[in-house]
Amino acid sequence: MSANIEGKVVVITGASSGLGEATARLLCAQGASVVLGARRADRIRSLAEELTGRGGKALAAATDVTDRAQVKRLVDAAVQAYRRIDVMINNAGLMPQSLLERLKIDEWDRMIDVNIKGVLYGIAAALPYMKQQKAGHIINVSSVAGHKVGPGSAVYAATKYAVRALSEGLRQEVKPYNIRTTVISPGAVATELPNSSTDPDVAERLRKFYGEFAIPADSFARAVAFAMSQPDEVDVNEILFRPTRQEL
Ligand SMILES: NC(=O)c1ccc[n+]([C@@H]2O[C@H](COP(=O)([O-])OP(=O)(O)OC[C@H]3O[C@@H](n4cnc5c(N)ncnc54)[C@H](OP(=O)(O)O)[C@@H]3O)[C@@H](O)[C@H]2O)c1
Repeated sequence: MSANIEGKVVVITGASSGLGEATARLLCAQGASVVLGARRADRIRSLAEELTGRGGKALAAATDVTDRAQVKRLVDAAVQAYRRIDVMINNAGLMPQSLLERLKIDEWDRMIDVNIKGVLYGIAAALPYMKQQKAGHIINVSSVAGHKVGPGSAVYAATKYAVRALSEGLRQEVKPYNIRTTVISPGAVATELPNSSTDPDVAERLRKFYGEFAIPADSFARAVAFAMSQPDEVDVNEILFRPTRQEL
């Protein structure tokens, strides 16, 4: 059990794999109640069952973050079950990278819908409760790609720059309500993320890059735990971390 984590109610989008799943496991082990959202209902349900089987508090609600009503339902379910929401982790995202000239416009739309609008819907669902509570913590997931752009990553990077801009605006606006805001920008972490690229050249480059450099997903979970576990008057606004060997 850990300071300022035990007893907190934490909603996590994109909890069916990768960073979201690792975070659910770590926070639940430290005494938080975790509410898991993702489209793959079977995965989040079996994770919730596993965590409750070990004595933790967890529930799952199938959620597509591109549907604002579903995101609201996820947060409402958390409040109904546990009477409050302490932390909203807007983590769901995808990264189908490609050169702009390939005109994969459906994938651009999808990244904008999930990586930007999904985060906004998470903020919209959690903020009214947190304002009322006069307490809360919103954690948004950006990326090293929210700091650096390269060929093939223009749209993904644009969405992650947007997450940083939203997080900074949010930070300033929620001061009167005693709400903390953190944006976390990971480098290469071993998850299913690179699998979403349909451009064979980029997919191969990503596979090599992740194969060489990626670090385990609990690196991200520990960053979340660090931000959460600070005393209430300490607001960790930005965390940027990479594998030690990653230059980019
Ligand atoms: N891994 C890295 O190297 C890295 C680096 C920087 C930033 N990030 C960011 O970290 C976040 C998590 O990614 P990850 O690395 O953990 O990848 P991942 O293993 O592919 O997980 C992505 C998660 O997002 C969920 N998701 C995708 N579309 C969704 C939708 N429409 N509605 C609800 N959930 C959706 C997926 O669940 P379902 O498919 O079940 O819906 C899955 O749980 C993303 O925002 C990513 O951009 C990752």
